[in-house]
Amino acid sequence: MARLLRCSFCGRREDQTFRIVAGPHRVGICDECVELARDVALPSSSPATGDLLLTGIGELVTNDPRRTGQLGLVEQAAVAVRHGKVAWVGFESELPSRYRELPGYDCEGRAVMPGFVDPHTHLVFAGERSSEFASRLAGASYLDIQQAGGGIAATVGATRRASFDELLASAVGRAATMLEHGTTTVEIKSGYGLDVETEIRCLEVARKVGDTLPIDVVTTFLGAHQVPPEFVADRDGYLHQIEHDMLPTASRLASYCDVFCDRGAFTVEEARRVLEAGRRYGLKPRLHANQLGDTGGVELAAAIGAISADHLEYVDANQAAALAATGVVAVLCPTASWSMQAPQAPGALLWDRGVIVALATDCNPGTSYVESMQLVVAVACLEMGLRLEEAVWSATRGSALALEEDDKGRILPGAVADLIVLDAESYRHLAYRPDANLVRTVVKQGDSVVGGFHAGRNPA
Ligand code: NIG
Ligand code: FE
Repeated sequence: MARLLRCSFCGRREDQTFRIVAGPHRVGICDECVELARDVALPSSSPATGDLLLTGIGELVTNDPRRTGQLGLVEQAAVAVRHGKVAWVGFESELPSRYRELPGYDCEGRAVMPGFVDPHTHLVFAGERSSEFASRLAGASYLDIQQAGGGIAATVGATRRASFDELLASAVGRAATMLEHGTTTVEIKSGYGLDVETEIRCLEVARKVGDTLPIDVVTTFLGAHQVPPEFVADRDGYLHQIEHDMLPTASRLASYCDVFCDRGAFTVEEARRVLEAGRRYGLKPRLHANQLGDTGGVELAAAIGAISADHLEYVDANQAAALAATGVVAVLCPTASWSMQAPQAPGALLWDRGVIVALATDCNPGTSYVESMQLVVAVACLEMGLRLEEAVWSATRGSALALEEDDKGRILPGAVADLIVLDAESYRHLAYRPDANLVRTVVKQGDSVVGGFHAGRNPA
């Protein structure tokens, strides 16, 4: 157990043991706060230096296009990390002697791959909606439930009533589960506040998650998730509030602006208005598009040069070609369709048309209460029809590109050393054994933050 000066979760407790400690800045959470958020027993790591040598890697996924196959596999590999960045990758037999003095770990034949990047989550929310899930299984539709006052509006009510600390505790708990399952970068959207004060609170909570855990957080403003109940008779009034009262502050807390452009949410023209306003404030556009129907979101995403178009259950070959031509990344959410018992996005079609495909949990209390990118990979293969190599690439490199994080999602010299060691000999096990958490160790910027490399967990 390491000792820190201050808990970065509560900001108060000092001089006691810390359960989560990581990174060059010695980020930590005190024992009490970990209990509060969730019992994530992350063993203390070796001193945070950002230096590491992994040897004995049975199968290394590099995603390096200069190497073999979609995943750029190297067998019998080693990876050297200095100051949090990958310094050298190759066959262990060719490892230059200068890296031998780095703190070393023998992976004993296990697979190593880039940490998962989860490019689409609604992580900050209060409450849960399992009764709606049961109703859907019994035949109710998502829009039926919304029209009866449930759906997003139900979570908005609970989120508005929740304090900053309550929202933070639950969001940190979910993010800690993501980290334990190998996610090293996560995008978090607002969108369950839908008033000025709560939207800003949710973005502040999202950023605090990244200050609290050794996971990188990218934030997105989704004030246009739904028209809130108090504005149903005045949609224009709500759009005006987004433009004039939310965006000025939200733009200091977020990198992207998103809109739920679909049936029961916002029209193409409304979405365009919000995304253009967001752009004036420096927020880059991304879009929930074609989840519930072919309602024009894809064409809008292509026309405005969105960074990503997300969901895409209802797209055809021409629309795929438009996304490919404009470089819009397709962020697919297979566990949302699975949980909704709805059609899956045509993942293989998008791949075959040359679209950059990314995968996300879409973690939210309505349509996809899922934290594990491992499960997303499995469902992408088993339900959506992506090939295994495509799914693994999409959940790492594709997802990094969806967040414009060019130095993540691959293991080659210069890349950020966010890696996971699997308790398996191949990435194939991610879909083959869909119920297990196969992540043994998570390395964030060269330091072990989950699992560790200490005696108890090292292979004998
Ligand atoms: O991505 N589609 C819009 N938003 C979420 C669902 C939100 C909810 O039902 O709470 C999604 O699926
Ligand atoms: Fe979503």
